Amino acid sequence: MTSENGTASASPGVRARVIAEFARRFGASPTAIARAPGRVNLIGDHTDYNEGFVLPLAIDRAVWVALRPRTDRRVSARSLDFAEQVELDLSGGPSAFGERASGRSGWAEYVRGIAWALSAAGCHLDGWEGIVGSDVPIGAGLSSSAALELAVARAFTGVSHLPWDPVAMARLAQRAENEWVGVNCGIMDQLISAGGVAGHALLIDCRSLGTRPVPIPAEASVVVLDTATQRGLVDSAYNERRAQCERAARGFGVSALRDVDLDTFEARAGALDPVARRRARHVITENARTRAAAAALERGDVREVGRLMYESHASLRDDFEVSSAELDRMVAIAGAHEGCVGARMTGAGFGGCVVALAGRAAAPALARDVMARYERETGRRGAAYLCAASAGASLEIVRSS
Ligand code: GLA
Repeated sequence: MTSENGTASASPGVRARVIAEFARRFGASPTAIARAPGRVNLIGDHTDYNEGFVLPLAIDRAVWVALRPRTDRRVSARSLDFAEQVELDLSGGPSAFGERASGRSGWAEYVRGIAWALSAAGCHLDGWEGIVGSDVPIGAGLSSSAALELAVARAFTGVSHLPWDPVAMARLAQRAENEWVGVNCGIMDQLISAGGVAGHALLIDCRSLGTRPVPIPAEASVVVLDTATQRGLVDSAYNERRAQCERAARGFGVSALRDVDLDTFEARAGALDPVARRRARHVITENARTRAAAAALERGDVREVGRLMYESHASLRDDFEVSSAELDRMVAIAGAHEGCVGARMTGAGFGGCVVALAGRAAAPALARDVMARYERETGRRGAAYLCAASAGASLEIVRSS
């Protein structure tokens, strides 16, 4: 068995399940396995669509596709998790996928959206059939949909003999999400799922889309703490934040808040309305924190990264106003634990997950103790994931077709 980028199979459970289901349905083994991971963002939230900086890592939970090519330019894919199936005919070009409309939802629309975005970009796609499975928690803010998009893109590029360019693929997947599924996200989730580096976080410049791998020190562990709260109204609140940031950028006479530094902000913030001022302050200070955190991580100063994470949480809570009572509680509980170096809400907010940095030896106890106390205090059963930084999307050739 070969692996294109040397990725270890970090989720053998799902990988084995998609292979077994493939054999059951098709009476043969798959020719290839595509995989793309979910992500957690260490620091730098609500900065990507302001053309700023983010520092995510790809996690060792992923979407897996067991597949084999077809010669008739059709796609037939079945989900293990949703008991849904999607059938596509690729021969009609992008218009054959139907009307582009926002508000489409459901597993099949991500598959269809990727086929549409690739065809619309002029890629000649060949067909495939396969089984799709995932162990990225759904709706927790760990980018299960970006993982699905990139795994499907990896499957398409594999069977169609197209080059795998992580940045180009992330852009296409973002387009599928924005224009086909109708979610107005930035580039972070797709780019880290496409281009993650094992053992590293990735400092992404969301304007140039340049990336710098930043090693996670061996003595540090990343722990994801899921509050088990739904992210209701997240889309409308997210779009509202984006509009407020654009308003603030206009107030400074720039195309994106990325172009405003702290001195300029302090000199001219008085001219903004109070909401735009708070939103801008978050984005501008978060960009600075994210770059500082990447530099601190590079020199192994985990304490400094932790300090910046707490500051980031306060900024997201007070200036950007995207935290929630449960997220604040989880950060407080984690922060009170002796093994915790730093903690903050991560992703879009309004529920979902906290990311904590802990000493490696302390991480399992932190996960256990924080979950127990969170349940005692809120009556909610959360979930904790100890995450290893994994590689981005990969294609493993199992046998020649
Ligand atoms: C969601 C979006 C990302 C990013 C984060 C907030 O995850 O998909 O593009 O904007 O929220 O940092």
